[in-house]
Amino acid sequence: MKQHIMPTYASLPVRFIKGEGAWLWDDKGEKYLDALSGIAVCGLGHAHPEIADAISKQANTLLHTSNLYAIDNQEQLANTLCELTGMNDVFFGNSGAEANEAAIKIARRFAHSKNIENPVIVTMNNSFHGRTLATLTATGNPKVKEGFAPLPEGFCHIPYNDIPALETLASRENTIVAVMVEPIQGESGIRIPDADYLNKLRELCDQNDWLLILDEIQTGIGRTGSFLASQQNNIKADVVTLAKALGNGVPIGACLTAGKATGLLTAGSHGSTFGGNPLACAAALTVINIIQRDHLADRAIELGERIRASFQHALSGCKHVVEIRQKGLMIGIELTTPCTELASKALEQHLLINVAGGNTVRLLPPLTISNKEADKITQLVSDLIIAH
Ligand SMILES: Cc1ncc(COP(=O)(O)O)c(C=O)c1O
Repeated sequence: MKQHIMPTYASLPVRFIKGEGAWLWDDKGEKYLDALSGIAVCGLGHAHPEIADAISKQANTLLHTSNLYAIDNQEQLANTLCELTGMNDVFFGNSGAEANEAAIKIARRFAHSKNIENPVIVTMNNSFHGRTLATLTATGNPKVKEGFAPLPEGFCHIPYNDIPALETLASRENTIVAVMVEPIQGESGIRIPDADYLNKLRELCDQNDWLLILDEIQTGIGRTGSFLASQQNNIKADVVTLAKALGNGVPIGACLTAGKATGLLTAGSHGSTFGGNPLACAAALTVINIIQRDHLADRAIELGERIRASFQHALSGCKHVVEIRQKGLMIGIELTTPCTELASKALEQHLLINVAGGNTVRLLPPLTISNKEADKITQLVSDLIIAH
């Protein structure tokens, strides 16, 4: 049946047709435990009844009118996001890449407002920011760029978690306008920087009049233990991008601005047909309401610590484990050797995980899992790693 799908994904041989909480069922009626949440999307699990109700209610009322007219849900969602983050304005798109495209366009506008003709946005090695031309250029992984030249100009990469590298670059490059960074690098294998890395980036951005753009597409919406991961550093970025878990599976992306990044995108300078439509915003409003009401960011901390402790115990003597990295429910277990086959081995055990960066088992379970489900994940994953 798949012969007309462009072969851009190396999908595993399973077809899910139903979900509930942290569980999925395939077309043969087999049940699987989801420790990946559709890559950090279904933070509230599958078929959440309140989200299903909100979507259904909205679908029965109004799906789409376009941004030619005011949209109640969009205004409410923007207010809620700004209240929770201290940001000023929001632009809505439909994906992470689009949220980052908006951020990049804002950085370019910021540059031109300062009469910088050839601005440079600094991004990090091993980062991931999306698959559009600008965002794959921002991405610090040569593989995603292969065969797509000519790429847009104006990006420069430095090592992640390396403040001296940025200082050195700043001393010889006077057209930098922004630093774009993930608070934790997700796609390259849950890379957690030093505790004060974001604070130092904030300081450098302030000193040099650069924008700090935080890509919280994977880290945001409670997953790391606060609504935004950067809130644990008590800093505010100039631009924050969100997507993934914001709609729990309904496509939505958001680019939030504060301070000097505010007001740079003016009427007619950017847009999206679907962005911020009543349906997507109804889903996102419900997601945020549940995350806040049920204190799920706190629960992510509690569950993450439980999972980490179990792994530390189970894998303590395992020579091929390099490191266990964890913040809230972003969990990476780096092995000494490539281990991509562990995703299919886990599938045979009816467990969904993936491998990021080639040798890191990545877990991004729903924030709503029970302790029992968390324990089952750690037990199955530990067994797979020990047998690797
Ligand atoms: C940090 C980060 N930024 C951007 C993206 C791109 O998001 P999307 O696939 O929704 O375009 C991703 C997706 O994995 C991501 O993890």
